[in-house]
Amino acid sequence: MGKIIAVHSYKGGTGKTLLSLNLAATFAKQGKKVCLFDLDFRAPSLLTILKIDKADCWLNDYLNGTCDIHKVLIDLSKRLDGDHNFFVGLANPSTEAIRDMSAKDRKWEMHALGRLLSLRNALLNDDGFDYLVFDTSPGLQYSSINAIVAADFVVVATTGDRSDVDGTRRMLSELYNLFEKKTGLVLNKVLDSASKSNKDELQSKVKTVYKVSMLGFVPCFCDILRAEGNFIFAQDKPDHPFTKILREMTRKIENNEVN
Ligand SMILES: Nc1ncnc2c1ncn2[C@@H]1O[C@H](COP(=O)(O)OP(=O)(O)OP(=O)(O)O)[C@@H](O)[C@H]1O
Ligand SMILES: [Mg+2]
Repeated sequence: MGKIIAVHSYKGGTGKTLLSLNLAATFAKQGKKVCLFDLDFRAPSLLTILKIDKADCWLNDYLNGTCDIHKVLIDLSKRLDGDHNFFVGLANPSTEAIRDMSAKDRKWEMHALGRLLSLRNALLNDDGFDYLVFDTSPGLQYSSINAIVAADFVVVATTGDRSDVDGTRRMLSELYNLFEKKTGLVLNKVLDSASKSNKDELQSKVKTVYKVSMLGFVPCFCDILRAEGNFIFAQDKPDHPFTKILREMTRKIENNEVN
């Protein structure tokens, strides 16, 4: 039985999109059948990163009940070398669609949650997907809460920024615990000196602060900034340290080494 993974954070810019894409691609490179979904309806970005300019149907249409999920999925398997199964479902980037999604009421969001939950049957059970990865909007927007509710596992991305640390702590104790979600924390953009010199110390500090399993530390890599979103590290930079960190994260998720 496959798993749904939501990648979330309290603040914006913590690396959710980078992590979602690269975790999804890492799983796919490991032979898993994977679909990555852009649930950041506020600022869709996967289509730009993946250089896709249009879709027959958007995830918005699926949630609106006007389109079958199979029409939303775009097969990107060829983007990865070898025989892989890598799909993506995109959010509509038009201004009209962004405004429309931000004006949805609670009743619509409840209905949308039902549509998200039914992906488990349609894609994991019937189509044999191993992983669905949800890239979300930061904070407590309904669409992100729905993604968390639908997920089996939540990857929480945070930086060391104090307001990020505080907000993430609150979210961990109030939101994820409320839904009793398995959660793994990624401390991202860690300064190189910190990650090299005192990894163990950092690890135990993070555990004390967040009281949650660590999925991994990601140093602040200039290569990531330089790439300007043009690479899928898991595919294009197989020997990069970031790619190795991603492999370790997928191993932990796969083996349930987080609680
Ligand atoms: N470890 C890292 N080292 C260097 N740059 C990074 C790292 N992680 C992310 N970035 C950069 O930080 C920026 C934000 O990353 P990303 O878009 O993945 O964050 P996000 O959480 O999805 O943002 P948003 O909340 O706006 O959706 C990007 O320019 C990305 O390349
Ligand atoms: Mg993002």
